[in-house]
Amino acid sequence: MEFPVEKLIRAAEEARERAYAPYSNYRVGAAILTRQGRCYTGCNIENASYGLTCCAERVALYKAVSAGEHDFDAIAVTAATDDFCVPCGACRQTLAEFSRNLKVYMVNARGDYLVKTLDELLPCVFDRKRLLSGTGGDG
Ligand code: THU
Repeated sequence: MEFPVEKLIRAAEEARERAYAPYSNYRVGAAILTRQGRCYTGCNIENASYGLTCCAERVALYKAVSAGEHDFDAIAVTAATDDFCVPCGACRQTLAEFSRNLKVYMVNARGDYLVKTLDELLPCVFDRKRLLSGTGGDG
């Protein structure tokens, strides 16, 4: 199913408007696309106990997974900054649980983007295969 990248970016930008970021003021939006063409969005949600903050990418991913989705094609992530918004290490690892060749669109305030696969962003990942090979499982 064809889903234009501009539409995915627009969905991430709309989600960014709902960012709850009173501490950092760094407002992020994300939109993740399933292989079936469904889109789930998220924004960052901060907390007075800083470490409990959740990134936009994980909010979008968790909404999708909790709706039964495991099969993803692409994610767009945006902040209203001159620089491209790149996913943090924790989000890369979390996304890698589901799709190694996920296309990651990293968007700036103008709507320009860099795109890389998750494999490129997180080489030598610790995944279920490595875990199971160390536990006598079927990895
Ligand atoms: N943040 C995201 O939402 N995604 C990222 O990939 C980078 C960081 C959020 C977390 C926090 O609310 C704010 O940006 C500053 O780190």
